[in-house]
Amino acid sequence: MKVLVTGGCGYIGSHTILDLVSKGYEVVSVDNFINASPVILDCINKITNKQIHNYNIDLTDAEATEQIFEDHPDIKGIIHFAALKAVGESVEKPLLYFQNNLNSLLSILKNMKKYKVRNLIFSSSCSVYGNIEKLPATEETPIQQAESPYARTKQMCEEIIRDTLNSFDLNAIILRYFNPAGAHHSGELGESPINPAQNLVPVIMEAATGQRSHLTVFGDDYPTRDGSCIRDYIHIEDLADAHTKAMEFATNTNDNYTIFNLGSGDGVSVLEAITAFEKTTGQKLNYKIGDRRAGDVIAIYANYEKARTLLNWIPERNIDDIMQSAWTWEEKKQQLF
Ligand code: NAD
Ligand code: UD1
Repeated sequence: MKVLVTGGCGYIGSHTILDLVSKGYEVVSVDNFINASPVILDCINKITNKQIHNYNIDLTDAEATEQIFEDHPDIKGIIHFAALKAVGESVEKPLLYFQNNLNSLLSILKNMKKYKVRNLIFSSSCSVYGNIEKLPATEETPIQQAESPYARTKQMCEEIIRDTLNSFDLNAIILRYFNPAGAHHSGELGESPINPAQNLVPVIMEAATGQRSHLTVFGDDYPTRDGSCIRDYIHIEDLADAHTKAMEFATNTNDNYTIFNLGSGDGVSVLEAITAFEKTTGQKLNYKIGDRRAGDVIAIYANYEKARTLLNWIPERNIDDIMQSAWTWEEKKQQLF
């Protein structure tokens, strides 16, 4: 089965390509390198022995995107990762986020309709839930006000997809990721954004290697067990596996719209994540307590029971595996970039 992966050179897209290829899927990628490097294609090639074709196209351009569908009439499914994803940046540049994230989805949907591609897997985020009262979050947890324009784009994209369902034979799977982190076990692929790292684990790596002077913990006065925010860090290989399982599910289900939470089920505070890093790597981390960051929710972690039952998916790795693999990748990354 041939699958189009948008954002295929990005963090989650590239790891998902590895998983898809290892399970026999044929993959085409599209990525305009707005937050990725072409070197990632070499990393994928080294691990899989396969040269993945990537279209360097801006997906907000629906006409340019059409070329991919013209060239590959046998695409049977699309995993749509491509988006801008920095919560803080979205607060400063909301229009950029709406422009990029909404228009790239519209362009994909228009082409799916025209070229009769049914199966869409969409990268959503736990940020759609906002500040919820009852943890853990299930797929039924009521959606609250978005805390950032980024989160709003994900809420809007989910609604756009739902509103589109009956206009053609669309079958959509919405995956709400919690906090993806860590790297591939080969040590040959991991997170390597072009834009300055903002997510916790890559920032920890940069602070530990001296690429930045220290890590700032964004707030220690939240109403949590140690005052820092709580998140659910999900290992990138577990997450990649869930995408392949979601594609298998998509091709077999009678429903045309299914939402899954993808998290480890464990809430980990920022200070606990630092301790896990220090314990697994033996490195001391220089960190300081700073102000709260705009757009942050206090605490969120997943109930992934639905994915366990319907996708037969169970996360197998924990925060220690995340820190260990990210640390191994950090050393390799410094040689590559
Ligand atoms: P990423 O930035 O590493 O990957 C996204 C890729 O999409 C990049 O390589 C970028 O160059 C590409 N891209 C962006 N806009 C494009 C456009 N208009 N045309 C073509 N290519 C474009 O991000 P990621 O961490 O791999 O995230 C993938 C998806 O998962 C995103 O939709 C993101 O919002 C979502 N998500 C990420 C996280 C996370 O913490 N990493 C959590 C929840 C949801
Ligand atoms: C958010 C979204 C997630 C989204 C992702 C994309 C929520 C709940 N989650 O993740 O769905 O797709 O962004 O990037 O909104 N931290 C520090 N110091 C740092 C960096 C982070 O203390 O230098 C803290 C943050 O305050 C947060 C935690 O670490 O508590 C994780 O932050 P980050 O990795 O940026 O992810 P989220 O913002 O949770």
